[in-house]
Amino acid sequence: MPAGYAALLDDAERLSITELRALQLRRLKASLRHAYDNVEGYRQKCENRGVSPDMLERLSDLSKFPFTVKDDLRQSYPFKSFAVPMDKVLRLHASSGTTGQPTVVGYTQADIDMWADVVARSIRAAGGRAGMKVHIAYGYGLFTGGLGAHYGAEKLGCTVIPMSGGQTEKQVRLIQDFKPEIIMVTPSYMLSILDEFHRQGIDPRSSSLKIGIFGAEPWSDHMRREIERAFDIDAVDIYGLSEVIGPGVANECLETKDGPTIWEDHFYPEIINPDTGEVLPDGEMGELVFTSLTKEAMPIIRYRTRDLTRLLPGTARNMRRMEKVTGRSDDMMIIRGVNIFPTQIEEIVLGVPNLSPHYHCEITRPERLDVLTVVTEEKAGCSDAERDEAAAILASRIKTLIGVTAQIDIRRENSLARSHGKAQRIFDHRNA
Ligand code: DLL
Repeated sequence: MPAGYAALLDDAERLSITELRALQLRRLKASLRHAYDNVEGYRQKCENRGVSPDMLERLSDLSKFPFTVKDDLRQSYPFKSFAVPMDKVLRLHASSGTTGQPTVVGYTQADIDMWADVVARSIRAAGGRAGMKVHIAYGYGLFTGGLGAHYGAEKLGCTVIPMSGGQTEKQVRLIQDFKPEIIMVTPSYMLSILDEFHRQGIDPRSSSLKIGIFGAEPWSDHMRREIERAFDIDAVDIYGLSEVIGPGVANECLETKDGPTIWEDHFYPEIINPDTGEVLPDGEMGELVFTSLTKEAMPIIRYRTRDLTRLLPGTARNMRRMEKVTGRSDDMMIIRGVNIFPTQIEEIVLGVPNLSPHYHCEITRPERLDVLTVVTEEKAGCSDAERDEAAAILASRIKTLIGVTAQIDIRRENSLARSHGKAQRIFDHRNA
């Protein structure tokens, strides 16, 4: 730990593991009781299973309690999962999801404060300090990214530039004029900003940026290195989801960059076998499940995130880490029996010379078999021969490393649609 750094940590970050577990148990009992007493839908689920909050004596007893899934929240639309009267709810956010009915989340003043605290802690863990300028290019609005980052950055004492997503030309101008040290944005949109630097003839390595705090979508370590090199910055991972609070459930520490540290004093993690629901020991891969420990407006018990990862011991902090999320169960493509996540394709694309980091996957079924096409772009100045060679390398690495035969479609520079927020990586045309 760098000299003087310990003094920056807050009380919860200094707890020993024993103290942390005691705090979690105390908070878990209260949170479960709060949900049971005030959220009709969750109490019903508990009653159906014959469990009640007084049956929780230790942290591991949590496994007896029912999960909450996205569909439960959809059915509670808009406010039935709230545990406080509406006049205590200061803010609403919503996640659009892919199937129409949004999931609505609500916050009391105490929830907004806690959220700002965990985001401030996240920015600090990433190397941010009071007095720095933070350019926020996560979208503002119902999405939790913009406002979540905003309140946290202010709480830490930073100067906030609330740019939101889009208007890429202006993003670059403001970075050049206001000279922020920190940028908070999705990694895919950071690549669009990178292209815009080049388009304007500005060397991105000469910008004022020192730290990027990237999240809201999966991104690989290869992408981290690509962005770090291109901008000469440190890139760290911020994780979160609306149902649990928003960004700031976990954040990578700059000194280790070894997967997000989960802010366990507020969010209790479990990993389960996604098929059976059984709790798996730390270190094993499975679906991440979160229970909020301190939320008022919308306590959430055992929320199934669909994110696949594993829990790892703490390094920079005593709190546990999660391995960088490289896939959601929703995003798993099954091509002729092989399971593939877009980030696996990303890692390979980024390792092939003359290819840009922009890519997506298309799945078609021209006859009876599924066909995966990886669509990407050539880099500026690439010759036809170099492009053909890149295609051959990409196809062969996908075959060797993942085990599927993929069609490769390399387009001209700047021809793929650019992300302004979360990138869509999979286009499934099988039912078209
Ligand atoms: O994406 C909150 C957020 C905003 C996180 C800004 C970080 C930065 P939702 O829109 O509800 O909330 O989407 C949550 O996004 O379950 C993951 O699948 C994915 N996700 C979020 N952060 C990461 C990350 C926000 N760092 C869903 N790595 C989650 C991989 C991420 N996936």
